[in-house]
Amino acid sequence: MSRTVYVNGAYLPEEEATISIFDRGFIFGDGIYEVSAVLGGKLVDCEAHLARLERSAGEIGLSLPCSRAELVAIHEELIVRNKLDEGSIYLQVSRGAADRDFPFPKDVKSSLVLFTQARQFANTPLAKTGIKVVSTPDLRWARRDIKSVNLLAPVLAKQFAAENGAQEAWMVEDGVVTEGASSTAWIVKGKTLISRPLSHKVLPGITRTAVLAFLAESGFSFEEREFTLEEALDAEEAFITSATSLVMPVTTIDGHSIHNGAPGPATLRLREIYLDHARKGGVLG
Ligand code: PDD
Repeated sequence: MSRTVYVNGAYLPEEEATISIFDRGFIFGDGIYEVSAVLGGKLVDCEAHLARLERSAGEIGLSLPCSRAELVAIHEELIVRNKLDEGSIYLQVSRGAADRDFPFPKDVKSSLVLFTQARQFANTPLAKTGIKVVSTPDLRWARRDIKSVNLLAPVLAKQFAAENGAQEAWMVEDGVVTEGASSTAWIVKGKTLISRPLSHKVLPGITRTAVLAFLAESGFSFEEREFTLEEALDAEEAFITSATSLVMPVTTIDGHSIHNGAPGPATLRLREIYLDHARKGGVLG
């Protein structure tokens, strides 16, 4: 059965949903997006995702076509119409459709598209085996804190990972790991979780913020600092966080086993705590 998707005010079967060939998201990558998890039919940390969307919009001078409450209502309607129990919702806003010209068009309404993707989070076999990561140079632009739809560099990084039997690529710049192609990168040493500080160089991950919000409950401490690939290869554990992986163990990096090639106890504990919160709608609202 086909999905029901949302396009510019209408709920439509996916085959009938269209967007203009002049849409600036398509022509220039002039748009932003969010991906929120759904678990047990509930949105996970949706308000935090929408707050980040509003921030991304502000940073590129884009007006959102509707309010936050309306966006939440569209998410919820899509969950109901698609009977989505477990998966994610993709939301994209672009600067609308106008004849091709670089400066912002005047009096053009932004385009809004949302669709669901069913996927298994909680019992995914990958959480038991962990994922493989390969390293690759970070080829992205200088404002990675904006969740822009310009994803060519991450597409190439993920393709490189796939061709090398890996599920994620860790991007490296000036000798340090910036982040995964679509996730935040972490390592563990003893009882300490390590991940780099937020800046224009990385996306401020909502799942990262959620992990830090339940840190006290987890019994771990946090060291916010950069780490090199060499340090990651030597770490006791490594993991990624994102709306589509939640907390996911990394068991090899560039073919080197981490924690003897098995998910480590710290990562599994964080995953369990986050899953508990996620089933109730998340940690951040
Ligand atoms: N990506 N860093 C990058 C570059 C990302 O693309 C993502 C998420 C994250 C993690 O952010 P969050 O915890 O808010 O999901 C970090 C989404 C899942 C995607 O592009 O599909």
